[in-house]
Amino acid sequence: MKPYVLLLMFAFTAAFSAEEGTDQLQILVYGATGKIGTHVVEEALQRGHLVTAVSRDPSRIKKQHENLTAITGDLLDLQSIELLVEDKDIIIVSVRGMIGKDKKPENTLQYIAARNIVGQLRGVGGGAARLIHVGGSGSLEVEPGVLYADKIPRVFLPKSLEHEIQGQILALEFLRTVNDIDWSYATPAKNFTNGERTGEFRIGGDVLMEDDRGKSRISRADFAVALIDEAEKADHVQQRFSVAY
Ligand SMILES: NC(=O)c1ccc[n+]([C@@H]2O[C@H](COP(=O)([O-])OP(=O)(O)OC[C@H]3O[C@@H](n4cnc5c(N)ncnc54)[C@H](OP(=O)(O)O)[C@@H]3O)[C@@H](O)[C@H]2O)c1
Repeated sequence: MKPYVLLLMFAFTAAFSAEEGTDQLQILVYGATGKIGTHVVEEALQRGHLVTAVSRDPSRIKKQHENLTAITGDLLDLQSIELLVEDKDIIIVSVRGMIGKDKKPENTLQYIAARNIVGQLRGVGGGAARLIHVGGSGSLEVEPGVLYADKIPRVFLPKSLEHEIQGQILALEFLRTVNDIDWSYATPAKNFTNGERTGEFRIGGDVLMEDDRGKSRISRADFAVALIDEAEKADHVQQRFSVAY
């Protein structure tokens, strides 16, 4: 066979080795060791994408797969972000934590991560990856102008969680000021479940969705499906979208 025919065949296979009809994406996952992030890595691999799974200690990523690379990274280290984001198509950020001793929403990792990633993507310039930030349901509206965060009874809410919820709201407010980077803010239902991947759920916007029994829920596996759908289809660029049954 002529060399140029082989080259063409190789290029074709590389571009379409994800699910049929879908380009293979280079996906960087921050929070790959987390409860949601592990499902995101699994879903992306199942669909044939190339996944770089980030952890501050990648030896914790036990999964082996020919399309998976486990790598050290820290969202507080701008240089490491710069190196990791430069050749990717999609950055998924699904992390949590409080930075420093001064506990306040501005010091949540969710908010700092959004700022640090956008800053580094700006450095990449044209062709920078798209960011998909995993948000919090506290930022969803339960009635016009009223957020779910405002309705959660404070007696049941640990202070650290209250700060995280506010940190996620700050992250969304920040991303909404960003118009030079492609971002999406993916918001889960009120409650995550350990249920199976069904691939059947609703996609909404700013309003908290409940099922016909008044429950607002989504399994982590199905939330991961919605995230990788977004990675492939870019349906909600510079928008928030929400996911629930
Ligand atoms: N209903 C809701 O609204 C709801 C419910 C639950 C979660 N969430 C949101 O979902 C997201 C993920 O939650 P989760 O429960 O999956 O979290 P998790 O299991 O606690 O995992 C947290 C992840 O954060 C990563 N991380 C911590 N510090 C980091 C740093 N400095 N740099 C890079 N990565 C760092 C950890 O990675 P390493 O330790 O491996 O570095 C870990 O993978 C959060 O944004 C959370 O707010 C929303």
